[in-house]
Amino acid sequence: MKITVIGAGRVGSSVALNCSMRELGDILLLDIVQGLPQGEAMDINHQLAERGIDCIVQGSNNYQEMKGSEFVVVVAGVGRKPGMTRMDLLKTNAEIVKDICNKIKSYAQNSNIIVVTNPLDPLTYLVIKSLEGQRTKIMGMGGMLDLSRFKDHIRTVTGISRDSIQAMVISEHGENMLPLVRFSSIGGIPLSHFITAEQSENLINKTKKIAAEVISLKGATVYAPGNAVSTMVESILKNKRTILPVSALLEGEYGYNDVCIGVPCVLGSEGIERIIEIKLNEDEMKVLDLGVQSVREAIKTLSI
Ligand code: 2OP
Repeated sequence: MKITVIGAGRVGSSVALNCSMRELGDILLLDIVQGLPQGEAMDINHQLAERGIDCIVQGSNNYQEMKGSEFVVVVAGVGRKPGMTRMDLLKTNAEIVKDICNKIKSYAQNSNIIVVTNPLDPLTYLVIKSLEGQRTKIMGMGGMLDLSRFKDHIRTVTGISRDSIQAMVISEHGENMLPLVRFSSIGGIPLSHFITAEQSENLINKTKKIAAEVISLKGATVYAPGNAVSTMVESILKNKRTILPVSALLEGEYGYNDVCIGVPCVLGSEGIERIIEIKLNEDEMKVLDLGVQSVREAIKTLSI
């Protein structure tokens, strides 16, 4: 199994580290910056060697080397700076991702692709359209990251082990994300049993804002994104059929067509094997609708 990660900055390297620590396959770390992917690869290999893990991480500036990859993770692009929204990155990152699509077309057209570059949902759409790819094999990682934050806040508020928490976050990986309190539970018991309505509101707001807080404190979010990508890769590669939030191209699901947005999906060896349509109430549907409108506005500005 060869997994190519395009973009060897902090997030790309974290993806490589997480995938290799889980022994998901050999990793190729690609970047246009000379030396950076090579240095990151060395550092990760040294950690793997001490752990007795035989996955090989290779760093390169040569895109041809992605030939034969079964997975391509697209991380390259400009990151959010303090005070910026994810949408502020659209213009710059769309150009970078278009260029990457040409390279994928040349060398790894049939791979599974996970898009991480922000703004996540419009750029996932861009990749699917540019590669004329199947919607089952090209998807975006955003909801998984929002989910990890939501779970952490649930633990803080309830004091119960993270291991007992099941939760879901859908919609845009951006201003209109939708942490679903009604579809979350602890030890199989609905989350509403453990928290007040006010705590529920706070949980939702904190989950929406926390990435900006991390960015203002340390400049970037790094570990949670790397872990989230590797969870998706693992579910597909091992045909686990885990239900995870994924930015997927909708074809009628939730009443929408031709837009990418975060929804619960079953991830197995066929990629997105199923999109699960949960019955949302009016308030939840409103947020999803705002998310879809926001992504559509962004898509309109891309010349695809
Ligand atoms: C995150 O949520 C910035 O989208 C990135 O961590």
